[in-house]
Amino acid sequence: MTNKTKQLNDKTEFYQNLSAQVKSLISDEADPIANMANISALLFDALEQVNWVGFYRVLDGQLVLGPFQGKVACIRIPLGIGVCGTAAQTNTTQRIDDVHQFEGHIACDAASNSEIVIPVQLKGDTIAVLDIDSTEFKRFDQNDQNGLEAIVQIFEQNLTEHEQLLEKSQLK
Ligand code: SME
Repeated sequence: MTNKTKQLNDKTEFYQNLSAQVKSLISDEADPIANMANISALLFDALEQVNWVGFYRVLDGQLVLGPFQGKVACIRIPLGIGVCGTAAQTNTTQRIDDVHQFEGHIACDAASNSEIVIPVQLKGDTIAVLDIDSTEFKRFDQNDQNGLEAIVQIFEQNLTEHEQLLEKSQLK
């Protein structure tokens, strides 16, 4: 087995394991804020070289800070601005190797050098984003993206199953 194949297998296994933990953590819980809080805590603990993990929710046409782990962060971000705002507006994952090269990047923590932001969708609308920052450049590769998108899908599935609670949490 080449080194590269081994790393890939290791990452695949790592994310399969993490996905299973997310599933068991949220499967019996319908409250989206509680689930976002626990997913943030789990990922912050499990991922190496990561200094911020959390959610921004789409509320009244802007992003508003949700449950997170890490240093205090900007509370409101307009759609289309920064990495998070771009992910939310375009409904696409943003995987940024060097945030200093990203026009409009919002530096909540000056120590962050790379970032991945994954939209959380319900019925085709982005209702939140999962944002993960790292102090390393190029911390996230395609395998991290695949693994983290799979985790967001587990959360999306849970949201679909418990949609009626979203209005109460101001997520919809
Ligand atoms: N860097 C983000 C802002 C959020 S913080 O990283 C927590 C951005 O440019 O959207």
